Amino acid sequence: MRTHYCGSVTADNLDQQVTFCGWVHRRRDHGGVIFVDLRDHTGLVQVVFDPDRAEIFALAEQLRNEFVLRVNGKVRHRPEGTVNPDMATGEVEVLGQGLEILNRSETPPFQLDDTDVSEEHRMRYRYVDLRRDEMQKRIRMRSAIISRLRSFLDAEGFLDIETPILTRATPEGARDYLVPSRTHGGNFFALPQSPQLFKQLLMMSGMDRYYQIARCFRDEDLRADRQPEFSQLDIEMAFVSEEDIMQMTESMMRSLFREQAGVELPDPFPRMTYAEAMSRYGSDKPDLRVDMELTDLSDAMKPVDFKVFSGPANSDDGRVAALCVPGGSRLSRKEIDDYTDYVSRYGAKGLAYIKCNDVAAGREGLQSPIIKFFDDDVIETILTSTGAQTGDLIFFGADTTDVVNDALGALRLSVAADMNLIRDEWQPLWVIDFPMFEYDKREKRWQAIHHPFTSPSTLEPEELRNNPGASLSRAYDMVLNGTELGGGSIRIHDCDLQQAALDVLGIGPEEADEKFGFLLTALKFGAPPHGGIAFGIDRLVMLMSGADSIRDVMAFPKTQSASCLLTGAPGQVGDKQLRELSLRQRKPSTSTEPA
Ligand code: AMO
Ligand code: AMP
Repeated sequence: MRTHYCGSVTADNLDQQVTFCGWVHRRRDHGGVIFVDLRDHTGLVQVVFDPDRAEIFALAEQLRNEFVLRVNGKVRHRPEGTVNPDMATGEVEVLGQGLEILNRSETPPFQLDDTDVSEEHRMRYRYVDLRRDEMQKRIRMRSAIISRLRSFLDAEGFLDIETPILTRATPEGARDYLVPSRTHGGNFFALPQSPQLFKQLLMMSGMDRYYQIARCFRDEDLRADRQPEFSQLDIEMAFVSEEDIMQMTESMMRSLFREQAGVELPDPFPRMTYAEAMSRYGSDKPDLRVDMELTDLSDAMKPVDFKVFSGPANSDDGRVAALCVPGGSRLSRKEIDDYTDYVSRYGAKGLAYIKCNDVAAGREGLQSPIIKFFDDDVIETILTSTGAQTGDLIFFGADTTDVVNDALGALRLSVAADMNLIRDEWQPLWVIDFPMFEYDKREKRWQAIHHPFTSPSTLEPEELRNNPGASLSRAYDMVLNGTELGGGSIRIHDCDLQQAALDVLGIGPEEADEKFGFLLTALKFGAPPHGGIAFGIDRLVMLMSGADSIRDVMAFPKTQSASCLLTGAPGQVGDKQLRELSLRQRKPSTSTEPA
């Protein structure tokens, strides 16, 4: 149907006869001459229809935006003064000599050039949205990234193996999407939250090295970097240590960034323990493009005569910490109040601060609602330990350790964004030495920080049962610019140790047998040591393409409330279908939803 793509004609094609297919991007009527910018995925080319060819001209008069055309014509130089340097094909135009309208379009739901279209509207008419150059580039980059990752792993001897979508619940910590079984009325499949157990079984099956671009399903609260269904680059290897997996996947990322983006990532990636990350950044996924760090002041605040600080400082699970903002003393009262509101979302009850107008002048040079509570020694400790300079501002958090870390960790990033303190660079990081479990105070039980199949650093089942809080796991997360890109671990390959880990989580032998009996049995038939990792493909593409949300790098994403505006899913089903599935009819909710 075509000889050339729209974006590919240049002066090299002068005087050639060419045929394009594409969409009308813009049509202009210039006193008897009609100009059409014809668009395909490669770009735009200008086509000119003049009245000399009456029949074609009459057809061209009917053209509207998004009509689909096949155009034949001759490439020529644009007249003096009309060359468009902003357009790849701006030096030339095509004199239209043949025109076929392949399809018409109603007035499009939005103009492709309009940058102010609501996301809801874009999702509802996704096929129009995806025609936009920006979206074309992202989806194409996604395809290229996946292809490079596959090539790398193929060359490393990995097998691409599919695993079931209709399966049993896998515990990654979110709610399951369930599928009712018709043939086993009252029973349900769960969609996989990840292929975790299957990939472990593949190692037990002697497959040695597995990968898959795996679709995962998680019913959880959605955010800019979370979708109910998303894709993982899922990896598992037999007879390996954490070192093998970290080195292999690091070099995979280095090679991807080199080939795809011309970026040289560090070799090796820096590593940081979970404890250090929480203490210095208040986050288990620190963004190292920002220099600001949290300073722990718990010891210094134990004796002060200010309950708000001395209380948490003297409490076992309390913390007092400071965040010194370079140049922050120019923040207005209003801006400080806004940040106080911001941290309250993370549970902070206030946001004390000191403005350092002149650090050499001691107490006199400081402006703060709280220094009246501190003697000169404490002030000195605050200034030296935070490294505050004249012109800086020091924020304080005092609360439970969790609240202080969440609040100051988020504040650090928010202030950095507002004050342009985020460097334009790539900062990968491994976070290691996670605790095995954390205690959920509300539910009064231990929860796995990774998943229950992660190996603890101790190999003694009794030690794990007796002291779950003290055990570290053999897990690792890869973080890039403050986003958790991937996470994995060395797995338990011993049946007794696996049962001990499940015991800690309150999953006794009977329940374990019911839920993961197949895995526990498999562990008894020669399970090799193994481990792996999974990377969020959508997050990787989001970061590499500079998008703000993973929705912008997925062809057909879902809304914040997990529905598809394009197809209207989830939808209702008829009584007959429900009866077949042994489900009773329930009155559907009639909530209308924002995008
Ligand atoms: P985890 O749960 O950490 O590990 O997931 C691995 C990576 O998947 C991405 N991710 C998501 N991306 C988009 N939307 C979501 N809702 C979402 N949830 C997770 C993140 C994350 O780092 N089975 C283990 C891996 C293993 O142990 O090998 C697992 O799934 O980038
Ligand atoms: P108050 O004595 O309650 O007026 O608080 C004095 C200052 O301490 C104010 O700037 C509050 O924002 C701040 N503040 C109060 N509670 C906390 C807290 N838990 N952590 C940090 N700052 C706090």
